[in-house]
Amino acid sequence: MSDTITLRRPDDWHLHLRDGDMLRGIAPESARHFARAIIMPNLVPPVVTGAEARAYRDRILAALPEGADFTPLMTLYLTEATEAADVIAAHRDGLIAAVKLYPAGATTNSASGVRDFDRVRGVLEAMAEAGVPLCVHGEVTDPGIDIFDREAVFIDRVLDPLRRATPGLRVVMEHVTTADATAYVRASSSDLAATITTHHLVINRNHILAGGIRPHYYCLPVAKRESHRLALRAAATSGDARFFLGTDSAPHPDPAKESACGCAGCFTATNTLSILAHVFEEEGALDLLEGFTSLNGPAFYRLPPNEARITLRRQAEPVTYPARINTGAGPVTVFDPGFALHWAIEA
Ligand code: DOR
Ligand code: ZN
Repeated sequence: MSDTITLRRPDDWHLHLRDGDMLRGIAPESARHFARAIIMPNLVPPVVTGAEARAYRDRILAALPEGADFTPLMTLYLTEATEAADVIAAHRDGLIAAVKLYPAGATTNSASGVRDFDRVRGVLEAMAEAGVPLCVHGEVTDPGIDIFDREAVFIDRVLDPLRRATPGLRVVMEHVTTADATAYVRASSSDLAATITTHHLVINRNHILAGGIRPHYYCLPVAKRESHRLALRAAATSGDARFFLGTDSAPHPDPAKESACGCAGCFTATNTLSILAHVFEEEGALDLLEGFTSLNGPAFYRLPPNEARITLRRQAEPVTYPARINTGAGPVTVFDPGFALHWAIEA
């Protein structure tokens, strides 16, 4: 088997870059390997207007290292007060690539999200008409639903009814974590796609909880049992173009993770591609890695794939990467896959 793989430069279809000192500290980690990323709008306050998306995009561009080749693809945070005309204008003007729906209370900085899905019906209809993709955080927030069931219940209670009520709406179910979600995507039309994170291909819930609690493996949706991880691996390495990479790399300063009430998020920007090559090799699917990282996402978002290429080379010694990134907002621990990595990315 070959010791090198050349891929079109990958894109990250779900990324948290934050703002200020954290943005400046971690943006180089994504810009090093990725050409574009869908930027999550869950700042405080959230990015809700086209003007805010433009200003945030400019702050991201200003935070990139000299000479970086990285394009942030902006999103708007959907609230019950979002005006359809604003969304359509921002998309028409090339300011945004998608709109993000957070059920209120589902995750970090989601308090301004949607409580009553009927109140965003008009916006979703206008988006369906204009072809604006909707990125969905797919978890119910009902406290009576077990956290490990929240994604599967969301599909039945919210996502499927919403898609039926809005024909033609193009939806990305973000960071899927269950066999229920991969089966739902496979059974749906090409209007539905799903992103899969790097960490959910690697960890199951035992990694978080067995033998001690590991806060750097805690994210939302929380990793599920092993059978679900295997379903995610099968989907990612299936060649089905409806599945593509969205790392959900989500930095928090270490003290906010290593806390009595720790924040959700795994920071994988630094070593994602080495981990993915390892996973795809384990699955005997290295030939499908480029589809997952570099082709399927652009196809769904109706963008051309990147022309530049990167080369991954298998090396005998383990790839080294920093255990944490020191940012002006504090140290951020890099996701530890728990095994040595041997696929290095050539400059
Ligand atoms: O683990 C997560 N972290 N999941 C999310 O949905 C949000 C993200 C964050 O912003 O930290
Ligand atoms: Zn996210």
